[in-house]
Amino acid sequence: MSQEAELIIEGKSIKLPSIEGTEHEKALDISALRAQSGYVTLDIGYKNTGATQSAITFLDGEKGILHYRGYSIEQLAEKSNFLEVAYLLIYGELPTKAQYEEFNKSITAEYQVPDAIKTIIKAIPKEAHPMGVLAGLISMLTSYYPETTVENASADEVKKTIVKLLGKLPTLSAYLYKHSLGQELVEPRADLDYCSNFVNMMFSEKGKAYTINPVVVDAMNKLLILHADHEQNCSTSTVRIVGSAHASLPSSVSAGISALWGPLHGGANQAVIEMLEDIKKDGGDTKKFLAKAKDKNDTFRLMGFGHRVYKNFDPRAKIIKKACDEILKALGVNDPVLSIAKGLEEEALADQYFVDRKLYPNVDFYSGIIYKALGLKAEFFTVLFALGRLPGWTAQWKEMREANEPIGRPRQIYTGKVDREYVEISKR
Ligand code: SDX
Repeated sequence: MSQEAELIIEGKSIKLPSIEGTEHEKALDISALRAQSGYVTLDIGYKNTGATQSAITFLDGEKGILHYRGYSIEQLAEKSNFLEVAYLLIYGELPTKAQYEEFNKSITAEYQVPDAIKTIIKAIPKEAHPMGVLAGLISMLTSYYPETTVENASADEVKKTIVKLLGKLPTLSAYLYKHSLGQELVEPRADLDYCSNFVNMMFSEKGKAYTINPVVVDAMNKLLILHADHEQNCSTSTVRIVGSAHASLPSSVSAGISALWGPLHGGANQAVIEMLEDIKKDGGDTKKFLAKAKDKNDTFRLMGFGHRVYKNFDPRAKIIKKACDEILKALGVNDPVLSIAKGLEEEALADQYFVDRKLYPNVDFYSGIIYKALGLKAEFFTVLFALGRLPGWTAQWKEMREANEPIGRPRQIYTGKVDREYVEISKR
């Protein structure tokens, strides 16, 4: 029996119906509030506000639970692969063998990018941050594939756009990486699976022997799966609101890439490794940095800690931490920042400030250490976050368009000056 709330305001009683989701989350539907009372709600940062109803991802911040389409992240990280999880997120079901092969084949057929884009990449300053370039390149794809911008595209046309982005983002990311290293671009290979091809484009060098390490491919699969979707986070909400204006999927994803770049969001994995390197350079005194993180007069925050929703361990952090140990051992990497990270985590988890605020390691805390062990430059960590999050952004954009959601347009409370008369400049 659905509950309803009664709001009594200025002597008037307003009934607000409630909604309960399949995981028993509850919401008050306030869509009639303004018409009935003249009031809007105010919730800066949307900390307590639902923007949509979605069947894609569920997370329970108190229990540290994350499910994609009802499957636990632990099962998927252990047993699935990134392309299969992408299919699950976008289409709602795990693919049959035939569906998986068709999906894989259609994405492989889209690995190539126009030569003109390669020329543009080679003209970009090598030190440019790749997230800014990638946001531009993804939007630029609409110039070469105008069919991806059709407003009311058919399901088949949307499918073609989806596989175009899934096929081209790894190539664009790898091309940017090679360019930043001053190395020749490595072409995609249709004979390799998605992650092996990406690893080869990123870490092999033209003219030099290179063996694709299955440990690296497995780590890549796991990391991309763990980043694939996460409810209405900042970048996904950006993709949805841009898409709600009926902007194309490429332009909505481009906006999502820009949001993810923020150091409070996806940019945190780069910020974590820079923080750990700073602590190492400063002599490894983790207690000093913990004190800085707690000092309200210090802007320093413990990057990779805390989360808007998780008030328990981020389940992804647990999986990545375990993978971190395995991968560094398998690669024979002994990185001192790993022990600094573990020391910092131990101290923070025992510190009252962090305990009181339920601040735990999040997905970004350990991922940067693995990326660094794979030889990646820190500014490319967030590029891999974007590569992982692409299926989630795509699934959420598709769900929003299929639900015919209205254009997103929040209200505000005006607090500026009122009723002022214009004064000629000579009299001001
Ligand atoms: C991601 O939404 C998602 O799902 C995101 C993500 C995804 O998959 O899409 O999970 C990926 O973005 C993970 C988060 C990565 N960001 C970081 O690691 C940056 C460091 N973390 C913080 O900036 C912060 O924890 C946020 C931004 C993640 C969450 O901020 P909130 O929810 O707005 O919390 P808040 O800033 O209101 O903090 C509450 C209290 C404050 O102290 P008081 O004012 O109560 O005294 O906790 C403190 C904050 O100062 N606090 C921290 C802290 N995080 C919060 N203090 C020190 N270090 C931190 N990291």
